[in-house]
Amino acid sequence: MAETLTITDNRTGKQYQIPIQDGTIRAADLRQIRVTSDEFGMMTYDPAFMNTAACRSKITFIDGDKGILLYRGYPIEQLAEHSDYLETSYLLLFGELPTEAQLDAWIEEINSHTMLHENLKKFVEGFRYDAHPMGMFLSSVGALSTFYPDAKNIADAGSRRLQMVRLVAKVPAIAALAYRHIIGRPYMLPDNELSYTGNFLNMLFKMAEPRYKPHPVLERALDVLFILHADHEQNCSTASMRNIGSSHVDPYSALAGAAAALYGPLHGGANEAVLHMLEEIGSMQNIPGFIKRVKAGEGRLMGFGHRVYKSYDPRAKIIKRMADLVFEVTGKNPLLEMALELERIALEDEYFVSRKLYPNVDFYSGLIYQAMGFPLDMFPVLFAIPRTAGWMAQWEEMLTDPEQKIARPRQIYIGAPHRDYVSRDKRR
Ligand code: CMC
Repeated sequence: MAETLTITDNRTGKQYQIPIQDGTIRAADLRQIRVTSDEFGMMTYDPAFMNTAACRSKITFIDGDKGILLYRGYPIEQLAEHSDYLETSYLLLFGELPTEAQLDAWIEEINSHTMLHENLKKFVEGFRYDAHPMGMFLSSVGALSTFYPDAKNIADAGSRRLQMVRLVAKVPAIAALAYRHIIGRPYMLPDNELSYTGNFLNMLFKMAEPRYKPHPVLERALDVLFILHADHEQNCSTASMRNIGSSHVDPYSALAGAAAALYGPLHGGANEAVLHMLEEIGSMQNIPGFIKRVKAGEGRLMGFGHRVYKSYDPRAKIIKRMADLVFEVTGKNPLLEMALELERIALEDEYFVSRKLYPNVDFYSGLIYQAMGFPLDMFPVLFAIPRTAGWMAQWEEMLTDPEQKIARPRQIYIGAPHRDYVSRDKRR
């Protein structure tokens, strides 16, 4: 027998049977609940989507209580250990791990799209010397829509795939262009002999040497960080990607919007905010005072807490372990001791324990990025590059889902009732 939820409307005494599927009811099924036939019908009110599923997805699974994260069914720990970013992006985009031949073809495809149009360089030159790289990144990605007008053809599967390839291939080059602009160095061409992250490091840090050789430990660490950031189901930026994409705009414009959502300090900007916070705290003796202020509601412990995880973020566990490997090469980040002490206090303190606030992906990633030589304001960009695969996978799934339409939430209007215009001389 099909499972249903019985709702009794106390206003009318009528009963309604609402079908239950996958542990959810359809909000639209509530519309039949009304007192008079000319009413709109019952809606749900859910600011910030605390309890509303907006799609059915096969991409990423999170169990927030148990701290489980799966991409297409594969545990994040196994991918971080055995996979690399390009293989993981293939998995996210196409649903299965590639065979050897498929992976070779995928790398080849990506490598043939790593260059940027020369005019994009001129576009980035227009930014001030101190422009935030994330601002440059998201506007440059948006500008790509003007370079690829064919991307408007979102109904064509071949065109969609081409834009996926272009975006995954070009976002490291855009990020590197933004970085080289700030530090006043010439833009470096991609080296397709290197891995995805090796080439990214090359475009960032190459100087006059004939061939840039990334440090294998740092190259692998960045690759693992990219795997960990590649997707995270319906977060703020992914929901933005789907929402904007649902208007059938091209994916470059949609991805610029998703990157803008990621930029905020409550989302992908948190990695940068963590480092600012640690620098502001300044020393171990200031930690108790800082924690006191956080508990008094005068600020947040950045890099802590999550809407879905109510236990240790599995990504943070992997990053914390990896930090040791990176610090063996770069030397220890002096802010690490403070981060460890903040975590120790927070994991024991009633305020954080009762609210289930644990370190998230952003708490330790910034310490690694800083030790690797990235300036603080590059951190959100380092999140956006790998998330591009996730955004594109979610965009593709949204467009090919027959249940999806243009996203358009309802509201509860609480403003003035109908009233007549008052001429200026009669207003008080
Ligand atoms: N420090 C101190 N208190 C906190 C924190 C924090 N980092 N996070 C949540 N709280 C408190 C909050 O004040 C509230 O307390 P009360 O019930 O007394 O009002 C309670 O915990 C619940 O918080 P919330 O704001 O209702 O939770 P949310 O699900 O809306 O917010 C969050 C999730 C990630 C925005 C929030 O935890 C936060 O602001 N964290 C710091 C920023 C951060 O690290 N963001 C990165 C998230 S992970 C990477 C990503 O995917 O973006």
